[in-house]
Amino acid sequence: MEVFIQQLPKIELHLHIEGSLEPELMFELAKRNQIELPYKSTNEIRAAYQFDNLQSFLDIYYQGANVLLHEQDFYDLTWAYLLKCKIDNVVHTEIFFDPQTHTERDISFDIVVGGIHKALKRAEHELGITSNLIMCFLRHLSEDDAFSTLELALKHKDKIIAVGLDSSEQGHPPKKFERVFKQAQEHGFLAVAHAGEEGPAQNIIDAIEDLKVDRVDHGVRCIDSESLMVSLAESKMPLTICPLSNTKLKVFESMSQHNILQLLRRGLQVTINSDDPAYFGGYMTDNFLAVASALPFSKRELAQLSLNAIDASFIEKQHKIQLKQKVNDYLAQV
Ligand code: ADE
Ligand code: ZN
Repeated sequence: MEVFIQQLPKIELHLHIEGSLEPELMFELAKRNQIELPYKSTNEIRAAYQFDNLQSFLDIYYQGANVLLHEQDFYDLTWAYLLKCKIDNVVHTEIFFDPQTHTERDISFDIVVGGIHKALKRAEHELGITSNLIMCFLRHLSEDDAFSTLELALKHKDKIIAVGLDSSEQGHPPKKFERVFKQAQEHGFLAVAHAGEEGPAQNIIDAIEDLKVDRVDHGVRCIDSESLMVSLAESKMPLTICPLSNTKLKVFESMSQHNILQLLRRGLQVTINSDDPAYFGGYMTDNFLAVASALPFSKRELAQLSLNAIDASFIEKQHKIQLKQKVNDYLAQV
């Protein structure tokens, strides 16, 4: 099973680029940018990654991002993630970034996008990995702040395919961002949102109805509403599920309690993703391995997760056909 998973062509749809900042690179950038870290070693950093819930993670994650200052830093961060993709046989990735985490510290939007975009283009040429970029609004900040961020993004419309919504779900329901999502969609951006990670199933319904999202990030709390489960299966609304994240943030007590296989077998369009791999203990292959060792997945079902992700991705039809062929060819020869 390990070899099967390692070599399976994979598609990632839920990855926060700031969450791929490994402690080693954090140290290197802190030194390069003369920033003092509250840790003495990479071991000490890793030891601090014990989380009780989403907020306890977010506090540490935003602090880690403080070492990112220059275009080169964003480039190095993104390139390091793409090299992991190559090892894991990720052939296409759709990456989130949180512009407000950086513009709040007076780092310009152009620097952030510039560095990420250059690394993505290099990966396409040198590693054969295609990608799309998604800009997330931080939901703990105001609607006004999100509108200003959207304004900054307009000049980069050629590099950003969609808007998203992340950060603290509790107390910041989708409705808060209805108007900014509408405006983004009028400008031609697609839309995704974190919903039903820690928050209730109603947030999933509201993300779909009020924000008109093209897919739901996490969405695992859909299990609390039978009617929502039925409508998600019927509409084939994709859920970008992040198993290691969910256990690290105590959304599920253990991987054997995770509902991903149950949702797949109910016909929901579920996918596997790594979320913030530097903080949660693993990239795409690790996430596949974790679910396959805790739950009775068949090889066909694991490959179905890749096929679901291709359908749920924002790539063109012809490219989807090619990628599906790749997965089906792989399945046929194992
Ligand atoms: N930002 C980074 N990772 C996140 C997560 N899992 N949920 C909400 N916001 C996030
Ligand atoms: Zn996420």
